[in-house]
This record gives sequence, structure tokens and C-alpha cells, in this order.
Amino acid sequence: MSERKVGFIGLGKYLPENRLTNKDLEKIVDTTDEWIRERTGIRERRIAREDEATSDMAVHAAKAALKNAKLKPEDIDLIIVATITPDMFFPSTACIVQNRLGANHAPAFDISVACSGFIYGIAIANQFVKSGIYKRVLLIAAEKMSSVTDWKDRATCVLMGDGAGAAILGEVEDGGILSVYLGADGSKGDLLKMPAGGSRLPATASTVEGRLHFLKMQGNELFRHAVRIMANAALKAAEPLGLKGDDINLVIPHQANIRILNAVAKRMGINPAKKVYLNIDKYGNMSAASSAVALAEAVEEGRVKKGDIILLDAFGAGLTWGGIIIKW
Ligand code: ACO
Repeated sequence: MSERKVGFIGLGKYLPENRLTNKDLEKIVDTTDEWIRERTGIRERRIAREDEATSDMAVHAAKAALKNAKLKPEDIDLIIVATITPDMFFPSTACIVQNRLGANHAPAFDISVACSGFIYGIAIANQFVKSGIYKRVLLIAAEKMSSVTDWKDRATCVLMGDGAGAAILGEVEDGGILSVYLGADGSKGDLLKMPAGGSRLPATASTVEGRLHFLKMQGNELFRHAVRIMANAALKAAEPLGLKGDDINLVIPHQANIRILNAVAKRMGINPAKKVYLNIDKYGNMSAASSAVALAEAVEEGRVKKGDIILLDAFGAGLTWGGIIIKW
């Protein structure tokens, strides 16, 4: 019997209404629109309402994906939420979403892989569908990065945004996921982390005073690794299929920084203006949600056609990374 082909049978996204522009940020920290645009490619980002949690955005994106797939919540066999900004430590955001959707018979769990969360989630969903254990997996990547952003730190607060993307994976007749490559390097975990709030440094008045419940990043050092690692992840995903840069119709990368993406494309011999999907200008870095929203938008805008070879490529805290090749 031939192996099951696993692909995307529905996509959805949700972006909060509130736009925070670079000009708005000029009033909050010592920065300029020009610095942010030139160093990152970001013009504005979306910020969730105070009363809007990660699960709220996840539910919106999931409903859009269900509608797109013409499925009902009870058709879902498993829910995975990729997030580093869960509503709370437990219960998982996936369980909160399961209840809100009424996807009553679906097991549900979160994964914590930072910006590579959507890629790792696809890898997990792929295995469950390929093995025949589950027919339809709902994968949501949702982040409220604004909740872990230090609005006094100009080096990080200009980078992040909030949002959610969702995908339903299931069996497809042709194409689908052709290759998956994942990686991690825990020795570089200190480059990007939220130090307090976990069992190592539980919340106390002094952790709050020390601003340790916010994301801390060594941007310069990360930048250096990001280019090398993302280019390598792309290569490792393409290699088993014998694909070269020219064979790839569209790269849909994690949207961390336009300069990283241009440098990665150059290393792969790909024209970034034509073959790299970008929405960082509108949304900034939404961690795991970035790749998920980018995929949903690329398809929505007709940038992905049947038969196209698509590369998803991500890199993030952990460090973690991954590349996935899909035939659409
Ligand atoms: N506005 C104005 N000046 C600023 C700002 C700002 N918002 N932020 C920093 N600067 C200043 C710095 O203080 C520094 O000043 P100095 O030279 O007087 O010391 C100068 O600008 C240069 O700072 P760098 O940090 O060297 O700037 P760089 O060109 O590296 O850009 C950036 C910073 C955008 C953060 C970049 O390093 C980057 O994108 N890094 C990678 C981020 C990434 O990939 N993260 C991983 C994924 S995220 C995740 O997993 C959740």
C-alpha cells in the first residue's frame, strides 16, 4: 500500500484590529520610523486588546480554517497549539480552544518552540495523519507577544506583534508534505528567553521589579546565527528531494527581519523580490504565528498555485529551526 500523502485542507488567520505604527512607537521609546524600517523591514504591527488572550485569537483563526476546509469542529481529531504566550501555564491553550470550539472528541496539547512552532507542529501533524492515527489535525500558531514585551526596551519592543494562524492537515490526493527537517541547539538558549515566571525563577516582587517577565534578546548574536541556520534548514529540507533554489516557487519564511530573509535568499540563489513571501512590514515578528499567517495570506493572495513547490523555513528561540517542503 502506498504511503498516505498529507497536506493542507484548510487555512485561516486572525489579526487584532489595533495597529501600532513606527510613528506611534516614536512616542513610547527613543526610536525612529527610519531606524525600524531600515533595520527590520517593519512598518506596523497588530496589538491585541488587553482583554484578548492568545486563545481568543487562536479560536478566531481556527474558525476561519474550519470554514475554509468546510469542516465542523467535531470533524477535528487532534488540536495542537504552538505558542510561547499561552493564556496561562495550565490548562493548555489547546484545551481552552478545544472547549471554545466544541471539538469535543479531539485530544489537545500545546507545543513550545517559539518562532519555529508552526514548522514543528506541521511535522507532528504530518506523522499523526501519515500513520492513520488521526484523519484531521487542527494546528494553530497563536501569540500575544505584546504580553511579554518590555515596552521600555527599544531593542525588542519595536520587533514584535500579535496574531494567529491556523491550518487543518489531512490526507490529500497528490502533492502534500514532501520533506521535513527539524533542528535545535539548547546551548544557545540564553540568546532569547523570558527569564522569570517558571520553576527556575517563580514570580516574586523582585522578578517583577527586575523586569524579568519580559523577553530578553541578544539581537546581534541571534542575527548571525539566523542567516546561517535558516539557509542550512532550507538546504537540508530540499536535499533529499534533489531540489535546488530554482525548483522552489515560493519561500514562506518566519518573518523575523527582512535583512535576515534577504541574506538567506541570497545564500540559496533565490531572488528575494520574486520568490520570498513577506508580510513583516504589516505584522512584525509574531513568533510561531508568523509562518502560519504568512502561509494563509500567500494562499489567499493567489501567490501559491496547485503544483507549486513551497518552502517553509523558520528559526527561533531554543534555539530551534526547521524547513518543510510542500507540493501544493
Ligand atoms: N531604535 C533606534 N536605535 C536602536 C533601536 C531602536 N529601536 N534598537 C537598538 N538601537 C540601537 C542600539 O542601541 C545600537 O546603538 P549603539 O551602536 O549606540 O550601541 C544600534 O542601534 C545598533 O544595535 P544593534 O543591536 O547592533 O542593531 P542590529 O542591526 O543588530 O538590529 C535587530 C537589531 C533588529 C534586533 C537585529 O539584530 C535582529 O533582527 N536580530 C535577530 C532577531 C531574531 O531573529 N530573533 C529570533 C526570532 S524571534 C523569536 O524566536 C520569538
